[in-house]
Amino acid sequence: MNLHVVILAAGQGTRMRSSLPKVLHPVAGKPMLGHVIDCARALSPQRIHVVIGHGAQRVQQQLDAADINWVMQHEQLGTGHAVAQALPATAGAEQILVLYGDVPLLQVETLAQLSRQAGSQALGLLTVSMQDPTGYGRIVRDAAQRVMAIVEQKDASPEQLLINEGNTGIMALPGSRASDWLGSLSNQNAQGEYYLTDVVALAVAEAVPVEVAQPETENEVMGANNRMQLAVLEREYQARQALRLMTAGVTLADPQRVDVRGELTVGRDISVDINVVFEGKVSIADNVIIEANCVIRDSSIAAGSHIKAFSHLEQAVVGEDCDVGPYARLRPGTRLAKGAKIGNFVETKNAVIGEGSKVNHLSYIGDAEVGSDANIGAGTITCNYDGANKHKTVIEDGAFIGTNTALVAPVTVGARATTAAGSTITTDVPADSLAVSRARQRNISGWKRPQKS
Ligand code: UD1
Ligand code: CA
Repeated sequence: MNLHVVILAAGQGTRMRSSLPKVLHPVAGKPMLGHVIDCARALSPQRIHVVIGHGAQRVQQQLDAADINWVMQHEQLGTGHAVAQALPATAGAEQILVLYGDVPLLQVETLAQLSRQAGSQALGLLTVSMQDPTGYGRIVRDAAQRVMAIVEQKDASPEQLLINEGNTGIMALPGSRASDWLGSLSNQNAQGEYYLTDVVALAVAEAVPVEVAQPETENEVMGANNRMQLAVLEREYQARQALRLMTAGVTLADPQRVDVRGELTVGRDISVDINVVFEGKVSIADNVIIEANCVIRDSSIAAGSHIKAFSHLEQAVVGEDCDVGPYARLRPGTRLAKGAKIGNFVETKNAVIGEGSKVNHLSYIGDAEVGSDANIGAGTITCNYDGANKHKTVIEDGAFIGTNTALVAPVTVGARATTAAGSTITTDVPADSLAVSRARQRNISGWKRPQKS
């Protein structure tokens, strides 16, 4: 079927009280409109048209992609008018699916179901039975339960207001009728708008069948008009993620205190303590333990590794059976080989740490290559930056870097070499040797401390 999707995203979203266009407000770190576009993409439509108006430039800039046709709606004259703006670009469409840019939790299966049910000949409506349908258009049915029309809240009679089947706004239009219907809408109603919902009565008048689908839960079709509703969507999204993780074999200390903002791939028997945030693309293999209050962004953690509390990982690759933290910061380009240990208050950046090597306390290891089974003492600093350029430090297999060593790069410490505590290493250290670079200690006997005068 030749399918086109039209996403309405021109509204201002006044109640957000924001300079950011409403549809760019994020859910799980991604603009609401981004979620809707992804949902649409999953149906492989011919083309996705996004109707923009308020903050159009920003919206387009942030979400531009080859498969999107941006359509400008200069004045927001109603949902029917909005869809009409996209119509010239939908030639040949057998079905036009209308979505809202501020309804980000819609599930692909729900949309696919609506699309299948409506096909190319019927009008498809996604409706939802609600405890409190205030504000929603009501689905008006006849005695035989056939859909007759949608009436907007502001135009509804007292009896119609009692109907609790609401219009989600998501709709499938038969491509062959869309143009005629949209062309004959009027704005003679309580809001002076061209209502898309009026196509229902037009379909009924022409004896075009009306198909109704419903989402699995009401949450799926919730929109966000203000920040309270945005927070509800966020929690709902996160609850789904937590459920997915637990279903996949992850233990969550508290499903309400883990946030996934991006794509998280998991193995089995992973344990995640409270307040852990995953961002971007993260993958975690079997038997990994993540303690409380970690932020893990665009990183991968191999099987059996243990990330202790308050650690922060970004673009890091953690090998098998590593120990990280507590309070470790792995910055972009960090790669830990099997069994490496990064301890508390250690920062690494663009650093490869070899198998079984340890950086246990209070160090900065940047632009460095560390071999296997090296031991890097507390307070070691790679002085990688001379104020203009970055330089590399190489620490070979089995080297022992004494406490409080400053390694002034570029510099190499050879295999099994040792640096004495407190040394400033400015030239290469050959393998199997000791480098001492510090003033020899003098003891002055009988020294009197200064007295206050
Ligand atoms: C609409 C439906 C209502 C439904 C409700 C669900 C109509 C007439 N009413 O009402 O039946 O229950 O959604 O939330 O369709 N938009 C544009 N251009 C416009 C007008 C709107 O792009 O000219 C976009 C908005 O940005 C928004 C969406 O369309 O994303 C819905 O518009 P909104 O004004 O919120 O419609 P409602 O009055 O809530
Ligand atoms: Ca709305």
